[in-house]
Amino acid sequence: MKQINLGGSELSASRIVLGCMRISQMDDAALSKHLNTALELGINNFDHADIYGKGECETKFGKILATELKRDEIILQSKCGIRYGHTAGDDIEYYDLSKEHIIDSADGILRRLGTDYLDLLMLHRPDSLMEPEEIAEAFDRLEQSGKVRHFGLSNFNASQFDYVQQYSRQKLVTNQMQFGPAEPKIINSGIQTNTPFDGAADRDGGLLDYVRRNDVTLQAWSPFHYGYFDGIFLDDAKYAALNEKLEAIGKIHGISKSAAAVAWILRHPAKMQTIIGTTNTERLKEIAKADEISLSRPEWYSIYESAGHVIP
Ligand SMILES: NC(=O)c1ccc[n+]([C@@H]2O[C@H](COP(=O)([O-])OP(=O)(O)OC[C@H]3O[C@@H](n4cnc5c(N)ncnc54)[C@H](OP(=O)(O)O)[C@@H]3O)[C@@H](O)[C@H]2O)c1
Repeated sequence: MKQINLGGSELSASRIVLGCMRISQMDDAALSKHLNTALELGINNFDHADIYGKGECETKFGKILATELKRDEIILQSKCGIRYGHTAGDDIEYYDLSKEHIIDSADGILRRLGTDYLDLLMLHRPDSLMEPEEIAEAFDRLEQSGKVRHFGLSNFNASQFDYVQQYSRQKLVTNQMQFGPAEPKIINSGIQTNTPFDGAADRDGGLLDYVRRNDVTLQAWSPFHYGYFDGIFLDDAKYAALNEKLEAIGKIHGISKSAAAVAWILRHPAKMQTIIGTTNTERLKEIAKADEISLSRPEWYSIYESAGHVIP
């Protein structure tokens, strides 16, 4: 599988990342097969967050890491900053990018994964109460102690990203955003600019241009979803035209619909990674084929249009 140097750093990561948000549902044998298959396919980058399965996803991954994986052959990334259950039950969430919380969270992540360093730590969502000076101090402490080698952000708009970067000594190498054919918010305003259509609204401060200009790697999450976790578009009648288009283009290239959707993301010259979250090893193998093809311009735009987005 082709590799990308994350944010221009020495971290050489596969274009497809295996998201580990749902792995707490898997038994140990299935997870072992899944992770080993990912490695055989050339997927060396694994995405975690301290909240996935309330820590259970990292713990399960850590068990297999200890016995079957070679630490220096994988790129392990995790995220922190979302808190839940601290005031009145599990559902209440708030964001905490205080220095203490970032440092404590990194320690918890390392303990659960059973490793002494993370390749990449990301701040999961912007905290309205964040102070970039404090974030910078936390990054320095974690870097100096050898616990974290690189840092990134997640769900930050261009201005927020730039603000945190201004205070950080380390180059921030990644930003994660929801992106896929059904939710292409980060490209809509670029395509529909100077029109009265809804897509023309700039929702992220020109993030796509920002990351390209500053060599930050975008990691596209939930590529098959529509809305905000409303469901996946694959085989959904609401997205019949998109499914037909992906099927037809997939057939031309000898890949499945889901692989065609990932190929659509990988075709963008911003050189994004795609984080897929399947827990089904056969699907993983099928989707990995996206790396082998490159969509033409007409194919790429026709997928965009078939998902109901305007090409003015
Ligand atoms: N930074 C953030 O805020 C953020 C937010 C959300 C997610 N993420 C990251 O992104 C990763 C991916 O997210 P996701 O799991 O929501 O994304 P996804 O890959 O778009 O969706 C995967 C889900 O779709 C299901 N699915 C059904 N049919 C499928 C098919 N033909 N091909 C592929 N999947 C199919 C999968 O079920 P099966 O398991 O049965 O295949 C699984 O439940 C997460 O693991 C996490 O690492 C980050």
